[in-house]
Amino acid sequence: MSEPLLQVDDLHKTFDRGGRRVRALAGVSLDLARGETLAVVGASGGGKSTLARVILRLVEPDRGRVLFSGRDWLGLGGAALRRERRRLQMVFQDPLAAFNPRATIGQILTDPLAIHRLAATADPADAVVGLLARVGLSADLAARLPHELSGGQRQRVAIARALACEPDLIVLDEPVSALDVSVRAQILNLLHRVQVETGVAYLLISHDLAVVRAMAPRLAVIDQGTIVEAGATATILTSPGSLAAQALIDATPRLIVSPPAPPATPTPDGERKP
Ligand SMILES: Nc1ncnc2c1ncn2[C@@H]1O[C@H](COP(=O)(O)OP(=O)(O)OP(=O)(O)O)[C@@H](O)[C@H]1O
Ligand SMILES: [Mg+2]
Repeated sequence: MSEPLLQVDDLHKTFDRGGRRVRALAGVSLDLARGETLAVVGASGGGKSTLARVILRLVEPDRGRVLFSGRDWLGLGGAALRRERRRLQMVFQDPLAAFNPRATIGQILTDPLAIHRLAATADPADAVVGLLARVGLSADLAARLPHELSGGQRQRVAIARALACEPDLIVLDEPVSALDVSVRAQILNLLHRVQVETGVAYLLISHDLAVVRAMAPRLAVIDQGTIVEAGATATILTSPGSLAAQALIDATPRLIVSPPAPPATPTPDGERKP
């Protein structure tokens, strides 16, 4: 019944860098339920992005297992992987790097539809307009190129592209750290609203404790490739049990951590205001 959506079990990954071995993951385990948001925080180089990349199957681990809906995710190949891959999407810090610079926003949003044949019956142009509306963007943006959008608009397109695949899980690797503070709140509200509407789960990778506090009830702290502490975000941020968590809190301005978290209230069209 309550089988986790994602189970990560004892992942190990060592990179070879100029003859030197760099241990990025040294036995990482975690669980994520359907519709849940789990944050993974930790200092730079701790292994956060490597963990994300293994889950997204961009990097092969040396050892360990990943189960997705109870199935061996790393063992999937061929047609089964092509069929299942849409269920796991990603939004990265800099969508400009992930978009084809010569493709219009409409094309960028239609690609996943075509690949996953979700819009087999619908008109792709209608699907694009619908996706843009879901992330608070107007239809006329479909004709633009990625560099003709603001950072916040681009991140909305990245979210729309993920949504086109109707995923069960979106891995968010520093999704708002490249954005201005005011835009940041809008994107966090959008992510929250999308989760309420679709029941998608988020694995949120961030070094920003204010973001984590607003988004994720549960938190895992990663340090030198291992999870050193995991539990309720509020508990860990008020009484950290690891040096790594304490160091992150110490590095955060007090004003941001101390007051109660601003509830991520999804104003239905709050993000659409200019
Ligand atoms: N492709 C690679 N080749 C060699 N070393 C790598 C590679 N990818 C990551 N590493 C190393 O693995 C370790 C973990 O890196 P990772 O990018 O996962 O950290 P991170 O927690 O995401 O850091 P940041 O907060 O700076 O993004 C680091 O020491 C990094 O230099
Ligand atoms: Mg990283």
